[in-house]
Amino acid sequence: MNIDYKSEIERLKRELPVTVVGHYYQRDEVFEVADITGDSLELARRCDADNNPWVVFCGVGFMGQSVKILAPEKRVLMPKIACCAMARMMDGSYFDESVAYMNKHGVKSEDILPITYINSDASVKAKVGKMGGLVCTSSNAFKIIEKGLESGKKILFVPDRCLGQNFANSMGLKSCVIGVEGEEYTPAEADVICFNGFCSVHQLFTVDDIEFYREKFPDIKIAVHPECDPAVVKAADFSGSTSQLIKYVNDLDPEQKVAIGTEYNLVNRMRKSNTYVLSSTKPECPTMNETTLEDVYLTLKSIEDEKPINEIFVEEETRKYAKLALDRMLAL
Ligand code: 13P
Ligand code: SF4
Repeated sequence: MNIDYKSEIERLKRELPVTVVGHYYQRDEVFEVADITGDSLELARRCDADNNPWVVFCGVGFMGQSVKILAPEKRVLMPKIACCAMARMMDGSYFDESVAYMNKHGVKSEDILPITYINSDASVKAKVGKMGGLVCTSSNAFKIIEKGLESGKKILFVPDRCLGQNFANSMGLKSCVIGVEGEEYTPAEADVICFNGFCSVHQLFTVDDIEFYREKFPDIKIAVHPECDPAVVKAADFSGSTSQLIKYVNDLDPEQKVAIGTEYNLVNRMRKSNTYVLSSTKPECPTMNETTLEDVYLTLKSIEDEKPINEIFVEEETRKYAKLALDRMLAL
């Protein structure tokens, strides 16, 4: 039997008390059936405020977890429990080791304020919350780090070294990366000490790519996500979260050429003419791309059949401390 997934999804959405959520990096056909779309900050906020008891979250694991942490009464299902490669680079024990590394280099635990990028596991958010720290996203990192520094403590930034260093650079702060030899500053000298995690997709964009486009089109603008390498962000005209990139590109004159350094599905959805992907390889996020229209249909159908699949659970102790870290961000 051939199922028309799109019309079945529309029927199930009409008949069930469910909200379908999709991050900008989802495939077009999945993105189009979502009721709420946005960057990771907007999705966390809007899901929390939404009234439906069921959420079908099309994105990566930490995003579904964030909804469950903020609104534990909601039933959160993910069509694919796909894990962000960067979030996978750190767990609770790596967090403890990072604190121990700073202690070893002369920074006492009471002088550390941890900040975790939202692209992290609930166990890492819980460690951060327990230590008095908070979460940030790529759209509010500047504000969160600025606020964090008011405590007079050093910032332990996890898990993305690029985001941590890019914001430290833009604020004129000293930074270093844990475990990397020959850094300009030691942890005792630096203001921001970053864990050595990164996004494999955003590592694809290079300064050579920027030079290639600038040579080809001397007036071109280059806009990149702050998960790109600091040298790439430095050589670009603009850096911002997915929503900020969309706004930047939309505000340009339609004749203005622009090359964009972020995930392919999003770049491909932006205005088509005069818009280029800043890479010779297709920068697709493999895990974001795992979710298909069939998966969305099967997940919604599982609610109708009262046999929900792929439900997200967060252990209560972890949730409680992770929520502290998320709430501190949302309060700002
Ligand atoms: P945004 O916070 O900009 O949506 O980014 C999330 C992400 O995973 C980028 O790779
Ligand atoms: Fe994670 Fe990178 Fe994919 Fe974003 S693009 S979800 S940071 S692996």
